[in-house]
Amino acid sequence: MALEFDDSFKELEESIMEDMRRIYSGKVIDHFLNPRNLGQIQAPDGFGRVTGSCGDTMEIYLKTKNGKVTNATFWTDGCGPSIASGSMVTELAKGKSIAAAQKITQDDVLNALGGLPEESLHCALLAANTLREAVKDYLAFKNEPWKRAYRTAR
Ligand code: FES
Repeated sequence: MALEFDDSFKELEESIMEDMRRIYSGKVIDHFLNPRNLGQIQAPDGFGRVTGSCGDTMEIYLKTKNGKVTNATFWTDGCGPSIASGSMVTELAKGKSIAAAQKITQDDVLNALGGLPEESLHCALLAANTLREAVKDYLAFKNEPWKRAYRTAR
């Protein structure tokens, strides 16, 4: 009995994976199932939170040193493609100068992921916009760090 259940569960799992492979690139599936940089950073140097047109929200946390992004993490309550996009945009930002991280676009995320279906393009935009907000936050507080004590977000 248990064996039958195991077999039908495996078949279901395989059929879901087959459906996913028809729609998404291998990179999207990988970053969705094994997201990199998921979570929060305590006392980040830059923080961004954006709610996209679909109503889903993403947060990005940055740590910096000598004008470089040393760590970047994300959180989202969004869909699978938004998890893949948050994972990829933080991977792209890590190790870059602040100026270079600020220039990461929706297209950069899409290219790195091997594309997304039309209806999920905005998920990559949400990730790029959230990164931009986090960089803006970093730049706004860079010269006046005392203002952090008064910020409303984390
Ligand atoms: Fe909202 Fe993907 S559907 S971020």
